[in-house]
Amino acid sequence: MPAFDLEGYVGRSRAVDMSAIAWADVPRYPVSAEMVRTLRYMQDVESHTIIYLRSLLATRAVDDPDVATFLACWVYEETFHGLALARFLEAVGSPIGPRARPRGQETLAKRIEAAATAMVSKAWADFCAVHMVWGAINELTTLTGYRRFAAVAGHPVLTDLLDRIVLDESRHFFFYYRQAEIRLRRRGVARVARFLVDRFWAPVGSGVEADPEVEFLATYLFNGPGGLDAARKVDDTIRRLPGFETVQLLEAWMNRHATSQEGRRNGHRNH
Ligand SMILES: [Fe+2]
Ligand SMILES: [Fe+2]
Repeated sequence: MPAFDLEGYVGRSRAVDMSAIAWADVPRYPVSAEMVRTLRYMQDVESHTIIYLRSLLATRAVDDPDVATFLACWVYEETFHGLALARFLEAVGSPIGPRARPRGQETLAKRIEAAATAMVSKAWADFCAVHMVWGAINELTTLTGYRRFAAVAGHPVLTDLLDRIVLDESRHFFFYYRQAEIRLRRRGVARVARFLVDRFWAPVGSGVEADPEVEFLATYLFNGPGGLDAARKVDDTIRRLPGFETVQLLEAWMNRHATSQEGRRNGHRNH
């Protein structure tokens, strides 16, 4: 795999071009309740990036100059993904209302998680490797999720917007994946990182969105043949990282949590 060109990335980092989207055409195509629900989830998770960054900056990640430089542009681009999705929701007549609780006020569980992460990071010099694997998995899941959303929704303006967002997510993925690959070459590091992913990983948005929303989204995007193939591709790519050859991610999570199409029709859960 080629090296990630950090200087090139930073030099070209920019907001998703809102002026290029045909906003006026949005109401010309049908929009389902599932689409709106998905947009809300994705918009909220994108906007939550800055809070995630706060936890990240409390760890050793901030001490790595390449990672710190990347994160500055990364949060900028993710912020615009949130704004663009909010604009789309507005265009379909479902604008985001005011938040019930300020975003910065996280739940007790989230605050404990952030404090624990910062503590482990202090104790373990190679902690950044975990963030890089985590980032790689989440960016790949996100970009795959956006591609699936475009395919499932079949709304031309949404597809155009998602295609543009996916370009950013692919660059994010590449940065994290490359970083992870280099750091995991040390077997001890790979072993601990693998343990933590096995123990704590859940799909993007878990812990931020309510569980039924995570399950709805996984089912909407990844159920059925095309979806399952996409989920498997995510898993297979991460399995190419040192020490992650047998990791169980999206497909295994789907088997545990997502409702099968048949189950949805019958009102049953798939186990
Ligand atoms: Fe994003
Ligand atoms: Fe991203």
